[in-house]
Amino acid sequence: MEKTFLMVKPDGVQRNLIGEIVSRFEKKGFRLVGAKLMSISQELAEQHYGEHKERPFFGELVDFITSGPVFAMVWEGENVIATSRQMMGATNPKDAAAATIRGDFAVNVGKNVIHGSDSPESAEREIGLFFKQEELVEYPKLISQWVY
Ligand code: PPS
Repeated sequence: MEKTFLMVKPDGVQRNLIGEIVSRFEKKGFRLVGAKLMSISQELAEQHYGEHKERPFFGELVDFITSGPVFAMVWEGENVIATSRQMMGATNPKDAAAATIRGDFAVNVGKNVIHGSDSPESAEREIGLFFKQEELVEYPKLISQWVY
């Protein structure tokens, strides 16, 4: 089953949005297989956002993501990578549709509440950066038979 890496960013944690965000993915039918509240080191931030190194906002991005705790998660489900990106809404909240997470809870492109992997390759890379294999839990969930 496909997995993705999702993270409530420091603004979402400070604004008490962890529960709301987890609830949306739970209700959709996806399965949480790993989660932790953590601080991101400068080194991890630079690795995670490595592909944006040359962009003018890179410093701002790293400063922001290391500015407070984040809630890192791994979710599993059919098409979870693409569907979770739809549920998050456009990167810039001004373009994010209502009823998406950014459409409902964010205003500014920097402080946009949530990060989600954008491809199978980035999901694998980001899960590996943030989680050890033993931190991911496989468990039977009877509700799955009503989703699939
Ligand atoms: S995306 O979704 O990867 O295509 O978005 P992209 O536009 O490439 O942005 C990558 C991440 O950079 C953040 N971002 C910014 N931060 C601060 N200031 C400005 N101007 C800015 N523009 C984009 C954006 O929120 C993306 O963060 P993540 O965590 O990947 O969603």
